Amino acid sequence: MTKLIVANWKSNPLTQTEAIELAKKTDKANVVICPPYHFLHQIKSGIKTAKLGAQDAFWGNLGAYTGEVSWRQLKEAGAEYVIIGHSERRNYLKETDELINNKVIACLDGGLKVILCVGESSEIRNKGINHAKQFVERQLDLDLIGLEAISSQLQANSLLIAYEPIWAIGTGKPDTPENASQMAKSIKDFLANSYKLSASVLYGGSVNSKNAAEFLGQKEIDGALVGGASINAEEFLKIIAQTK
Ligand code: PGA
Repeated sequence: MTKLIVANWKSNPLTQTEAIELAKKTDKANVVICPPYHFLHQIKSGIKTAKLGAQDAFWGNLGAYTGEVSWRQLKEAGAEYVIIGHSERRNYLKETDELINNKVIACLDGGLKVILCVGESSEIRNKGINHAKQFVERQLDLDLIGLEAISSQLQANSLLIAYEPIWAIGTGKPDTPENASQMAKSIKDFLANSYKLSASVLYGGSVNSKNAAEFLGQKEIDGALVGGASINAEEFLKIIAQTK
């Protein structure tokens, strides 16, 4: 199966010119570019091959939700994917599982492909990988409440899980490909058993051009969610090249 590479630009770059240039350079097959909201429209018209995604979405349709951008507006802007529950939002914005659950269900119901981020802290991982698995399963249970009710109308592959151990994000200290693969397998088994769902699992956390091949070479890992390395076109192109 071809692996998917998702670029999470976070709050980068500064200008529209830089954003368009980066998007055009990395406009390749099996790539999803997730820029900040205000670059979405321009990037949509600038790319031909890559898919467009957003870094978050509000669960309401249209209405009185000051400061929020709804899933419906994202679709209108050309986004096909949306990242929900990133650990930076869970941390800085204090997003709860309840809030994340609302977003996941609304976006799936509205026809966006959801990349749901889960992952444990270093405190939990230090207690052993089984603790990490239990923590992630609990996150999945809370974040996916109500999924059964809409599952019959979902298109195939509309829910993707990004396993991103918090301690590996932006630290230059990725998980080992073997452990990440074990976590991916356990997430897939859990979703199959609890929700009769087969979902792709991406790995995220300090993926770069030097370690990407090892992660992407794991059978259970269906792609990568890339932060820091996605805003450097040369580096990101080297990662994309490893999906072939
Ligand atoms: P990183 O970020 O690649 O910079 O570790 C990954 C992410 O936050 O999605």
